[in-house]
Amino acid sequence: MPKRPLVVIGVTGSIAAFKVGNVLTHLRDHVDVVVAMTQAAQQFVGAQTFLALTGNPVITSLWEPSHTKPKHIDLADELDLLLIAPATANIIAKAATGICDDAVSTLLVSVLPSEKPVLFAPAMNTRMWQHPATRANCETLAARGYKFIDPESGDLACGWQGQGRLAEPQVIAQSVLKLLNLAGAKKRKKA
Ligand SMILES: Cc1cc2nc3c(=O)[nH]c(=O)nc-3n(C[C@H](O)[C@H](O)[C@H](O)COP(=O)(O)O)c2cc1C
Repeated sequence: MPKRPLVVIGVTGSIAAFKVGNVLTHLRDHVDVVVAMTQAAQQFVGAQTFLALTGNPVITSLWEPSHTKPKHIDLADELDLLLIAPATANIIAKAATGICDDAVSTLLVSVLPSEKPVLFAPAMNTRMWQHPATRANCETLAARGYKFIDPESGDLACGWQGQGRLAEPQVIAQSVLKLLNLAGAKKRKKA
């Protein structure tokens, strides 16, 4: 049986983290998924949820005693696409400046966007999205070949109305499958 592509999803600390479960339900017929979470993301969703939904161990820290080799380097070698969803203003800023101080940001710096697709699906308050620092960071990343699924406009969890809501899970999943040339592909069994 041919190997299924591997997608790594970096989940960061937005209230929209719970929607990643829906992204997974759209992806799991086609690809294998490993989830990596920041500390802030774990305030919103437990790693156990993603363990159950992916069937794979969840990366919650750089410092896993059971890893004999650096996990972020192994994963960066193995993955076919890196999706950061939801992407906070913070992880976008870290990626734009090359900061790597946790599992998700270190993974981001371990993958070259010229070699493998790296896709951000941001979610944040409208003012955070419009902030000149966030705008400059997104422009820097786009110029380096990173891809974005821009947030939608509507009611936000913080009580605001405006742009900042995570794109629909189905839209995110479709973008991933399209980048992997799997759009419209038949279900592929897990090996
Ligand atoms: C209730 C709550 C909701 C938040 N939602 C968001 C969000 O949607 N987007 C965002 O960029 N930051 C949000 N934040 C702030 C981030 O969690 C914070 O900047 C954190 O340091 C991000 O860390 P990370 O990027 O390592 O996950 C939220 C904070 C709280 C307390």
